[in-house]
Amino acid sequence: MPFDRKIKIAPSILSADFADFGREIQAIEAEGCDWVHVDVMDGHFVPNLTFGPPLLKAIRPHIKTVMDVHLMIAPVDPYIDAFAGAGADILTAHLEAGPHIHRTLQAIRGAGCKAGLALNPGTGLDAVAHLLDMVDLVCVMTVNPGFGGQKFIHSQIDKVCTLRSMIGDRPIHIEIDGGMTPDTAPLMAAAGADVFVAGSGVFKGGSVAKPEVYGDNIRAIRKAAEAAL
Ligand code: DX5
Ligand code: ZN
Repeated sequence: MPFDRKIKIAPSILSADFADFGREIQAIEAEGCDWVHVDVMDGHFVPNLTFGPPLLKAIRPHIKTVMDVHLMIAPVDPYIDAFAGAGADILTAHLEAGPHIHRTLQAIRGAGCKAGLALNPGTGLDAVAHLLDMVDLVCVMTVNPGFGGQKFIHSQIDKVCTLRSMIGDRPIHIEIDGGMTPDTAPLMAAAGADVFVAGSGVFKGGSVAKPEVYGDNIRAIRKAAEAAL
């Protein structure tokens, strides 16, 4: 995975047809997505449940791009090897998931994955300064994690501007997750983000029988974000 700051669109399969992940993934990749975002929820760290390592392992062969796994679970550490073994390229853990995020990030890299650090909307950047040399991605949540289809929280724009200057020329992606549309993505592209997660924004109106809608939605978000640069 060579590093660059080009705009990348990462559809969240949380908004796909859960009975048809293989074909849904083939459709979004054929329609030009850059990464595939997989939302893991435990019904404890967030008030919703999704899927675990066996499901990830089953969908892995269908992903030709990048498997970007967002862990909304606590604790994280006991499951890192299982998610790495399931084939995650990037494993992102929440800063809020426990007292030892430093150890967690070390363990993720130790398991052979790129390490991501996610921040809830209410979390500041103070602690991030001490973690920047051990992450490959910072995910700024622009909704409270747990559900797709929520409204973008505008107060996160300033956070991304500050984060972008803290990162400097380190090879760290800034990923935005929640409420991404052609209206909100440019705000974050201008602030310095390069990876745009979109669930409802990509899957709405389409299906495996109508994949061109996914393509239209991906292109609309990408075009709007690139226009802001
Ligand atoms: C929210 C998840 C997101 C979610 C985004 O808890 O982390 O990845 O799927 O969904 P939209 O794009 O619909 O806000
Ligand atoms: Zn996510």
